[in-house]
Amino acid sequence: MKTRLTELFNIQYPIMQGGMHFVGFAELAAAVSNAGGLGTITGLTQKSAGDLANEIAKCNDLTDKPFAVNLTFLPTVNAPDYPAYIDAIIKGGVKIVETAGRSPQEYMPQLKDAGIKVIHKCTSVRHALKAQSIGCDAVSVDGFECGGHPGEDDIPNMILLPRAADELEIPFAASGGMADARSLVAAMAMGAEGMNMGTRFIATKEAPVHENVKQAILQATELDTRLVMRPLRNTERVLTNKAVERILEKEDQLGKDIKFEDIIEEVAGVYPKVMLDGDMDIGAWSCGMVAGLINDIPTCQELVERIVKEAQALVNQRLTSLV
Ligand SMILES: Cc1cc2nc3c(=O)[nH]c(=O)nc-3n(C[C@H](O)[C@H](O)[C@H](O)COP(=O)(O)O)c2cc1C
Repeated sequence: MKTRLTELFNIQYPIMQGGMHFVGFAELAAAVSNAGGLGTITGLTQKSAGDLANEIAKCNDLTDKPFAVNLTFLPTVNAPDYPAYIDAIIKGGVKIVETAGRSPQEYMPQLKDAGIKVIHKCTSVRHALKAQSIGCDAVSVDGFECGGHPGEDDIPNMILLPRAADELEIPFAASGGMADARSLVAAMAMGAEGMNMGTRFIATKEAPVHENVKQAILQATELDTRLVMRPLRNTERVLTNKAVERILEKEDQLGKDIKFEDIIEEVAGVYPKVMLDGDMDIGAWSCGMVAGLINDIPTCQELVERIVKEAQALVNQRLTSLV
């Protein structure tokens, strides 16, 4: 299965695992890469550049295949020491970085001088074009369906992907709502060169998260996500729970006057408690609508192989019979 993205990243299948806070540890990244996809370590889950260096070393022990590191550029006052994180990435021999959040422009010289391929995740065509103009090698186009931060435009992938295909010259991965062979074939039909999955990869054997998280995804339907923090223009798609209901009540009551401090208890520092301790109602955690399509907990190898095999059957049988 050769596409512009498999060639760019030197991987077997055009299937990528996006960075996920307190999910994207070495165990998952290596399992996805060993299965022929592109696994990703989430940079900022590591408290320091030194910790990231250790996580990269661990991943290098677990796989000899390419893997990526995600760097999310947050709109915070006390920004993490990004140049030090990038230094750890370079010294660890990582050749692919997934950037997200703000534009990676400031860090492009450091990344490009080290020969790193940059795939920037964005939720609009204008941001994708900007990424292309500053030298990103590829983009990951995240539709409104996605788990995490879908931006503020609310354009689903049935529109966003063909729009991206019409405008972009660099290759792009379809992201958000991707779960199986149908997702991959549809994404490719709309012009993508592969797909990026978040939520689907949490419900795998190797994802190093509490069993409660995997079961919550299995039990959820496509109706069970909510958008929080919209009034703060920091919209996040999360799985509904008691904390999310409290956030939405506060958003309703306080309207435009709401401040981050009003919901800090439900959003700050909750990821380790959810992902590692399995405390499912403690706060808001990202989850895609795609939870409605997830009904099992395979290994990454089983998942990737199934997607590839069924995609081939879909193209060779169902679609061929149409022409
Ligand atoms: C639990 C969780 C945590 C995430 N954390 C991050 C993150 O730290 N940085 C980032 O760029 N994207 C993050 N994402 C987004 C994913 O990388 C990916 O773009 C998204 O999940 C795709 O949508 P899907 O869940 O429908 O597959 C997260 C997603 C989930 C589900």
